[in-house]
Amino acid sequence: MTQTTHREDLYQRASEILRLNDRGHYTVPTSGLYPFQWNWDSCLVSLGQQHLDEERAWTELTTLFEHQWDDGMVPHIIFHQHDDGYFPGPDVWNTGRVVQTTGITQPPVAGFAAARLFERAQDTALARRQAGHLLHGIDRWHEWFYRCRDPHGTGLVALIHPWESGRDNSVDWDTALDAVSTDGLEPYQRRDLQHAHADHRPTMAQYDRYISLVQHFRSLKWDNALLHDMSPFKVVDPGFNAILIRSCTDIAKLADELGEAAIAARNRARADKALAALDTLWSDMLQQYVCFDRVSGKAVDSASVGGILPAFAGVPPARMDCLARRLTALAKQVNYLVPSHDPADSRYDGKRYWRGPAWLIINYLIADGLDRAGHHELVEDIRQASLKLIDESGFAEYYDPQTGEALGGDTFTWTAAMVMEFLRSSD
Ligand code: SER
Repeated sequence: MTQTTHREDLYQRASEILRLNDRGHYTVPTSGLYPFQWNWDSCLVSLGQQHLDEERAWTELTTLFEHQWDDGMVPHIIFHQHDDGYFPGPDVWNTGRVVQTTGITQPPVAGFAAARLFERAQDTALARRQAGHLLHGIDRWHEWFYRCRDPHGTGLVALIHPWESGRDNSVDWDTALDAVSTDGLEPYQRRDLQHAHADHRPTMAQYDRYISLVQHFRSLKWDNALLHDMSPFKVVDPGFNAILIRSCTDIAKLADELGEAAIAARNRARADKALAALDTLWSDMLQQYVCFDRVSGKAVDSASVGGILPAFAGVPPARMDCLARRLTALAKQVNYLVPSHDPADSRYDGKRYWRGPAWLIINYLIADGLDRAGHHELVEDIRQASLKLIDESGFAEYYDPQTGEALGGDTFTWTAAMVMEFLRSSD
């Protein structure tokens, strides 16, 4: 097979996965393990969909925003249909919505995705209509973040549940999660282990705390005016904040294009304040950003990929250079970039979800930031590593960065979408 035919074949296989997991107005990450609509999955998947059908790509985002809460939050899962194969389902969250959702949020990539769809759109009339509508919802979500998750005005938002980060069982949360009480935990049955290997998933001790936090927030009736201050878990994640900053910057530009000066100004001000505050999370010792635990008041000693993700936010060039050096050093320790945790750390586990494995969406976001900062060689390294993983192991949820083994769920939608992006970006 020639190189071109091979790439075309890969692209076609990726497109088939997008179609396979398409439920008409939203896409599931993979059937079985994740049978509903996930917030940041959908936003990133829309980028792949745009190569196939622009209208469908916009629908992915508009469906998500149809379920935005009155207070501005966009929930992390929308339970469009009944499915017993997932836990915790709608009855555990009990958020009282007509179409049930969870009561927490997820990394806000929507602003970035909407702006990217807009700038690449062929059907500009459709794009102006759809983006014009979405812009208001995204702006409201950003407003919600700084009002409800940064009530004391530091410039950085905190997560109140590890699931909000998207990096569920990262080493970043270990100490903060240990301090969460499991008193009063109701009996429950995990479902994820029916679909994925237990060694590749979070532990029982972590699940107990995930569910205890859900029970606690449910007892507070999901009132976001209370949740931040009353949560026993409050961690400021540099990666999450970086995504929010980038989304603010991107929708500010989008708002300019659409003649929405007030939205542009608000989001630029949010991004400027947050970028300055992000620098307080820099660790000279680890030469990357680290989390800050708002409950204990301590920086978290953990070299995870969350501290490299600020490459996506447009941090100052000197910081970008350090992050590029970190990635170059990591490339010498693993066979496939980017590990989600530093392999030199004893807590690293190359097979367990977010404690070591490589994820294509993270590769994509980091590569995008590096590209904008001119680190093109490193971008190419990440792109090549990503495509090699697919060639060797298929469209998995995540991969062992040493062996390249496929881990977690398979026929994974956002992995396929990122492959389409990586292939088309080199054309
Ligand atoms: N990632 C979580 C799960 O595994 C929820 O978002 O269920």
